[in-house]
Amino acid sequence: MLTNRNLRLFLKFARETAVGAGNILIKKARMHNEVHFKGRVNLVTGADIASEKYIIRNIENKFPDHSLLAEEAAATDKGPEFKWVIDPLDGTTNYAHHFPFYAVSIALEYQGKIVLGVVYDPEREELFSAFRGGGSFLNRKRNRITSERALSHSLLGTGFPYDVGTAQENNLNNYTCFARVSRGIRRAGSAALDLCYVACGRLDGFWELKLSPWDTAAGIIIVEEAGGKVTDFEGKKFSIYDHYILASNGHIHRQMQRVLAGHCE
Ligand code: IPD
Ligand code: CA
Ligand code: CA
Repeated sequence: MLTNRNLRLFLKFARETAVGAGNILIKKARMHNEVHFKGRVNLVTGADIASEKYIIRNIENKFPDHSLLAEEAAATDKGPEFKWVIDPLDGTTNYAHHFPFYAVSIALEYQGKIVLGVVYDPEREELFSAFRGGGSFLNRKRNRITSERALSHSLLGTGFPYDVGTAQENNLNNYTCFARVSRGIRRAGSAALDLCYVACGRLDGFWELKLSPWDTAAGIIIVEEAGGKVTDFEGKKFSIYDHYILASNGHIHRQMQRVLAGHCE
């Protein structure tokens, strides 16, 4: 059984581990990092690997019977109860270009549901965290979504999939429309942080497609616990295994849904 006390212990562990991994990223950011290509524009650096090894080692030492789903390593299956979902470096393209906007993302799934999430931005020493029913925090301060009700006054975030150069479904159509009907769009390069920025009120909404479970797992609970809403593009319940994510302060959700359904007015 998962008690509140256990959740708090898991959260403490996840926070410490995310900060430890973030410190590895910061140290390596000052050095030359070898870049490898997973696709034409999909990169992986030595820092992704070092951060992930550190996180996995910590989890395996502390919770040897928990399953793992991490971006760079093979998944492990130790049963359906607990699964850690890990992005050791969200924003690798930024990182490789010394653009200081990237994060470590760690979430815990229990019986198929995300129960806690932690996202750490080591450049700003900003630690976002939440557990189910426990509120959402940026360091020690409680996160609150914005109260903006008009899409035309909203600042939005998004990103583009790695196959943007070749795929028909590339998000450029949505981008064009939101650029016309919102106050502005930021493509900052880290989906995990984009979600946290919705949670803490720096963005009013965020959408993206073709993301992976590790990109969204921690961010969604951080948004929901801050009072925000996370669904697929049609307003249905979001699962981290879905490919379409819409997160907002709730008030502009339907207006964003309409745009994503192709109504650009
Ligand atoms: C990427 C970032 C980016 C998003 C990409 C993701 P990565 O993750 O979250 O913002 O647009 O789709 O894959 O590859 O840097 O971990
Ligand atoms: Ca990612
Ligand atoms: Ca990554």
